[in-house]
Amino acid sequence: RTVYVNGEYLPETEAKVSIFDRGFLMGDAVYEVTSVLDGKLLDYAGHEARLARSLAELDMRNPLSAAELLEVHRELVTRNEIGNGLVYLQISRGSAGDRNFLYPDESVPGTAVLFTQSVPDLAMPPAAERGIKVIAFDDLRWGRRDIKTVQLLWPSMAKMAAKKAGCDDAFFVKDGVVTEGSASNAYIVKGNRIITRPLSNDILHGITRASLLVYAAEAQFEIEERAFTIEEAQAADEAFITGASTFVMPVIEVDGKPVGAGKPGKVARRLREIYVEAAR
Ligand code: PDD
Repeated sequence: RTVYVNGEYLPETEAKVSIFDRGFLMGDAVYEVTSVLDGKLLDYAGHEARLARSLAELDMRNPLSAAELLEVHRELVTRNEIGNGLVYLQISRGSAGDRNFLYPDESVPGTAVLFTQSVPDLAMPPAAERGIKVIAFDDLRWGRRDIKTVQLLWPSMAKMAAKKAGCDDAFFVKDGVVTEGSASNAYIVKGNRIITRPLSNDILHGITRASLLVYAAEAQFEIEERAFTIEEAQAADEAFITGASTFVMPVIEVDGKPVGAGKPGKVARRLREIYVEAAR
């Protein structure tokens, strides 16, 4: 596989980043994951805009121009012959050498790394057919979840706990209500109404969420932006999550209780179709 690091395209075994890089030592880095379907980047403009916002919130500069960034995405998709899959992008603050809590001088270049992953069944993976089971998990992440940083240890711990419980994922819970999934936004469905938490610093502003809410409104679904509890999710007609790599994924069980009939519902199925069609 060919990867990109700081201006160079290299075989993955030859790509190198300094051990003093603040992304490595301090989690001082932001990232984006953009899906590729039939060789095309999905919702690219949204990911580019959110990257710019994450960087601005952290006073970090992008070593790549907007044109270069798109070019590298396209080049990697072509070079690695990605039909279905994703492009991972990470920008860190770099390092002046040595460990230091203070940011290095602005003249110190950041580190840009991009690579692809092939996911042949991205459009319809088995999990989307059968639905996923989630556990409830305390949301103990930091308070700026709207910034897409690489500090992913708590989400990893949540996924491990879910796996141990024989489940697939977690719904994070803060102050008695669901914030989001471990790497996704969370929704419930009641009749024709789609309910999801409003944007704030408590959740990541999902790019898939933004597109899906527009498509859903166009398809005459009602949208209600408010928080919901685990109990409300268990009693809902349907539940689902969205994310760049999952699109719309039905949730069939929440913390040990089936949602609706305990199988993927028709609204989630329809929304997945709508999203994949519109994004193509
Ligand atoms: N995760 N919330 C969290 C905490 C996320 O990590 C993600 C994405 C989302 C959905 O955002 P989007 O629709 O823009 O992908 C919501 C990516 C896919 C990941 O970490 O792999």
